[in-house]
Amino acid sequence: MSAPMSAPMSASGKAGEIAFHAKSVSKTFGARLALNDVDLQIGSGEMVALIGPSGSGKSTLLRTLTGLTRIDGGPGRIEALGHTVQAGGKLDEHVRGLRARVGFIFQQFNLVPRLSLYSNVMIGALPRVGLLAGLVGRWPKAESERGMAALVRVGVADYAGQRANTLSGGQQQRGAIARTLVQGAEAILADEPVASLDPVAARKVMGVLQALNRNDGLTVVVTLHHVEYAMRYCPRTVALKDGKVVYDGPSAGLTRPMLVDIYGPEFEDMLSEGTAP
Ligand SMILES: Nc1ncnc2c1ncn2[C@@H]1O[C@H](COP(=O)(O)OP(=O)(O)OP(=O)(O)O)[C@@H](O)[C@H]1O
Ligand SMILES: [Mg+2]
Repeated sequence: MSAPMSAPMSASGKAGEIAFHAKSVSKTFGARLALNDVDLQIGSGEMVALIGPSGSGKSTLLRTLTGLTRIDGGPGRIEALGHTVQAGGKLDEHVRGLRARVGFIFQQFNLVPRLSLYSNVMIGALPRVGLLAGLVGRWPKAESERGMAALVRVGVADYAGQRANTLSGGQQQRGAIARTLVQGAEAILADEPVASLDPVAARKVMGVLQALNRNDGLTVVVTLHHVEYAMRYCPRTVALKDGKVVYDGPSAGLTRPMLVDIYGPEFEDMLSEGTAP
């Protein structure tokens, strides 16, 4: 594969504003180099897919962007929303405040199983309202309205009173997205958000992320196992292989030979799984 291509700003990006900037980022786990001198800029308002074979470093890179994973010491640094997240292997002391502005979505939804969907979504308001008021469910009117608006926004308001563990995976994942909206996230980092979902539910979740990106200007970075979702929903794709960026450009520019080069034999397996969106 040739050297990484430079990425254009997406149509929705606000020119000049950088949402995430990883500079010379490396990460070792024991003897394994999970990220190898990665440079990546994500513009504000972009929707970017992170793809690559299993173990290529997608989750690790995503987690470093908000300091959930600490990078190696040395010249590497991460900046997000105009602030330093970490540099030289040390987290910035203000990283907690920054994390509230970035929603993180996991494959397994991460809702509290016994709480209602509404209560789960309102967890996003706890830092503003306080734990005690939250525990007794005494939400200020503006906050409860914000919670319901978020549920409407992601299309699961009808299930507000239902316990999270009785909801479908797709409904739970949309609830997790609603929680990041209540939290006030300006950007969403989603690690395989649709990997546990059937294609119909997956399309709905990807559609919600796309709408938040297009209509609300949220920056979205999403790791995806299926390239088809990257092509369909994300104007820009960044591909990792062995901890290095091997493609960074328009998703439409990814050709079959490039994908075979990135994924190796795994690519043919992905096609035969027949789970195109
Ligand atoms: N906490 C950890 N401890 C040790 N090794 C780790 C840890 N997290 C990740 N790794 C290793 O770092 C490499 C990159 O892992 P990562 O989870 O980022 O890959 P990925 O691209 O997200 O893979 P997948 O598609 O399977 O989710 C792998 O070799 C993995 O085994
Ligand atoms: Mg992963």
